[in-house]
Order: sequence, then structure tokens, then C-alpha cells
Amino acid sequence: MLITKNIELVRRERWADPGQTWGFVPTMGALHEGHLSLVRCARAENSRVAASIYVNPTQFAPTEDLDAYPRQLERDLELLRAEGVDLVFTPSDTEMYPPGFQTYVSVENVTRVLEGASRPTHFRGVATVVAKLFNIVQPTRAYFGQKDAQQTVVIRQMVRDLNFPVDVIVCPIVREPDGLAMSSRNQYLHGETRTAATVLYRALMAVQSAFEHGERNAETLRALMRDTIAAEKLARLDYVSVANPDTLQELDTIADSALCSLAVFFGKTRLIDNIILEESE
Ligand code: PAJ
Repeated sequence: MLITKNIELVRRERWADPGQTWGFVPTMGALHEGHLSLVRCARAENSRVAASIYVNPTQFAPTEDLDAYPRQLERDLELLRAEGVDLVFTPSDTEMYPPGFQTYVSVENVTRVLEGASRPTHFRGVATVVAKLFNIVQPTRAYFGQKDAQQTVVIRQMVRDLNFPVDVIVCPIVREPDGLAMSSRNQYLHGETRTAATVLYRALMAVQSAFEHGERNAETLRALMRDTIAAEKLARLDYVSVANPDTLQELDTIADSALCSLAVFFGKTRLIDNIILEESE
């Protein structure tokens, strides 16, 4: 496994044998089974696999947890090695954002809602770093988790609009046995707060069950999520949404599918989760 901070070395390895297909998994490290599921998908569908570990400062607002974000590089590298990853790119901030850097990728409508409304500069940072990583690694396919549903919509939009020659593949959410979606930020949760955090999944399951029983009114489903969160004393709701999965616009009525998502604070820790509701054939 080649581990490098050097952009030229990544490119050289990528094109050493142009006949290989490359799957790419971008991450911010503190790897868990969610990340590893993406690596396994990439491993199954490509002859070579690259991952990146980079805590991207431009996607954190000044008030957010950039400094506290968990960093455990040695452990992460062991996990990637065990999955048969061929190349790990671990750039420094000056490698990615050298002095004088001034070009950003700004995806418009789909970044204004949901996470983008609560975190106005977040997706500009995500789109910029992912565009750079795509240009550095030049993968055949890139793997993202449904956990960050809006991020997948933003990346797909960017790839379409800027003609990146890469296939974007989205993999399912990996959960803890009690339903909590795996996240590097779960490390901030302890004791009764960790127990309370299952309320996101419970809210989504309530919505799924109502949908299966025929409920198609989006506001009724949003209210169900709000009520479930309100019943959990340690939780403070940021938003709930029942939206079109492609445009992310809020729905009145669910015709064929909907992305149900929510963000909830537990103290300073902010968790997100989602499910897709789909009319069965
Ligand atoms: P990070 O939060 O490290 O996540 C890396 C990838 O793992 C993302 O595609 C995310 O959706 C996926 N992932 C996280 N938890 C998951 C889970 N429980 N199940 C399935 N997939 C999961 O997302 C980022 O990093 C950054 O924004 C990045 C794309 C690397 C750009 O900096």
C-alpha cells in the first residue's frame, strides 16, 4: 500500500498502468465500518483502490469542530491496509491549499437547503476539495455514503455540470445494532446521550411505518419526526425534511419517492440521518 502526501506521486501511481480501473473513497479519517463498506464496494468493482484521508478545513465553519475532529492516522492506515487498499493520499493543508489559493466550486440550488441552510459554507468546501481530489486521483469510480444524502446530490450535480469523467456510486448507510448511523462524530457521545441518539433512527422508522400504512402527506410525516424528537429531552431539533431526492425541494405529497432527513443536536454534537421512501412496484 503506497501512502503519500505527494500529488505527483499519486498521479504517477494512477497512470503507471492505464489499463487498471481505479475506485476512489474520499474520507476525513477516524474510519469506521461505514467508511470500510465503501472501500469494500470499491474493492469489488475495480482492479485498484485509492482512499484519501484529509480533514478538509474549508468545509468547517469557524464555529465548528475542525480542531476537535478525531484524528487517528496510524489506525486508519492499518484498517485500509487490511481491506487491500492500494494507495492512500494523506495531503497536508499546504499541499491542498497553498498560499494564494483562490478558486472554489460553488454548486447552487441544491446547497441552499437542509445542511446548506444550517451550514452555509459547508458544501462550497466539500465540492472544492472533492473536485481537487478527483483531479489528483483521476478515478474511474468514486464511492460516497447515503449517510450524507445531500453531499451525494451535490457531488452528482457537480460531476454532471463540470463533466468530470468519473462514475459516482452511492452505498447504503451502515448502522450500529441499535440503529444509530455510524459517524466519526459518534465518538463525542457518551452514556445517556449515546442512548438518546437513537431517536433519529426511531423518528425515521416511525415515518417509514406511516408511509407503509399509506400516509402520503409530507407535512404529516415531518410532524411525526418533530414529535418523536421533541419527546427526547436531550435532543434539540435542527431540521426535519421530506423532499424530492434529486432537487431536495420540500414536498407537499409523496408521489413516488422522498428523501426524509433530519439533523439533531445533542449538546454541541450535531447528528444527521435519513431514509428514502419509495413506492413499491
Ligand atoms: P467523512 O465524513 O469521513 O465520510 C467519508 C464517506 O463515508 C462519505 O461518503 C460518507 O457519506 C461515508 N459514510 C460516513 N458514515 C457512513 C455510514 N454510516 N454508512 C455509509 N457511509 C458512511 O464525507 C466526508 O468525509 C467529506 O465531506 C469528504 C467527502 C471526504 C470531503 O472532505
